[in-house]
Amino acid sequence: MTRTRTIGRFISNRTWNFTPISGSRIGSHSLNQLRMSSSATAAASEAETAAAQKNYQVVQDSGNFDEIQAKRPDFDHSKPIEVTKSPNPNWEYGQGVPNNGASLVGKHHEIDPYASDRPMINNYRLLVSGIAPRPVGFLSTVNSKGEKNLSPFSYFQVIDHDPPMFIVGFSSRPGRVKDTYRNLRETGECVINTVSENMIEAVNATSIDAPYGVSEWDVSGLHEAPSTTVKPSRVAESVFNIEGKVIDIKEFTDHQQPGMSLAATVLIKATRFWVKEGTANEDYSHIDLEKLRPLGQLGGMSYGRIGSTFEQPRKRWSDEVGKSEILAKLDAAKPVDK
Ligand SMILES: Cc1cc2nc3c(=O)[nH]c(=O)nc-3n(C[C@H](O)[C@H](O)[C@H](O)COP(=O)(O)O)c2cc1C
Repeated sequence: MTRTRTIGRFISNRTWNFTPISGSRIGSHSLNQLRMSSSATAAASEAETAAAQKNYQVVQDSGNFDEIQAKRPDFDHSKPIEVTKSPNPNWEYGQGVPNNGASLVGKHHEIDPYASDRPMINNYRLLVSGIAPRPVGFLSTVNSKGEKNLSPFSYFQVIDHDPPMFIVGFSSRPGRVKDTYRNLRETGECVINTVSENMIEAVNATSIDAPYGVSEWDVSGLHEAPSTTVKPSRVAESVFNIEGKVIDIKEFTDHQQPGMSLAATVLIKATRFWVKEGTANEDYSHIDLEKLRPLGQLGGMSYGRIGSTFEQPRKRWSDEVGKSEILAKLDAAKPVDK
């Protein structure tokens, strides 16, 4: 049986309108894949989408959350960030985890993420609880008609500074692709905004599955500030905004399930930085943590705040080799690098 696949009912058969950032180009391999996925597009089967919707458990009913929350202590906005010693300040080379083997107790359970009896939701829950904390990239985009979108993504990371590069992962969901992804593909532009503690309710509100073309700026009540190198606005409340352009996209066409949109990963190169005055040092090379107050997304519905930090200087081999027997031995036995 030939199965109809979709990358979203509303973008089927569209032509690519992608302007690569100057000095960069979307890889020809990726572009070919995009074209392939575009041509493989057809109208979604309503039945497949409805079935997918029924099994989609990523956004769950939060039950009596308001009652649970009411019993918890208030959020202390003025709590300072404590600085402590590192966990084991007397650690020596070769020492591993200095807890008398306690970290070695317990066997690991092997999991095949693709096993036929393993539901996708288990991989989702495992990954978001195990790869934590994750920074939240709050993306502002516009579509080709100029309609605005604002949404959070924690499959997100800065992956280099030279050039400044970022990655964002878009999960599949029943029906249409995420609007942010669609906009990035259409216009190739965005602003990545940081999320501070006091923004989280507004940011979370923008994650609602608003109909295509509805602006989450209005849903959130956050304020727009103009950008210089891209069309989407910056979030004025954020401490740090990064204007950026898409330089590559990878769509996971081989993994697409009936009734579900395509999953994709997007590579973004920064074109401009904006740092709120008073939150950084004089040359804008360091943002003050007390001012940024970043959040990390954790498993389930949880977020973590930074209550305590410590420092851990990075070392140079040439400085350390004379101070440690282990390093000296490794140095003496090092292979010749031809
Ligand atoms: C903190 C947070 C992080 C999220 N991270 C992601 C993510 O990394 N990838 C993703 O596909 N969806 C993620 N979501 C869900 C999207 O924000 C949600 O699907 C949203 O409706 C997408 O909006 P859009 O269709 O307007 O782009 C996240 C939601 C929240 C609240």
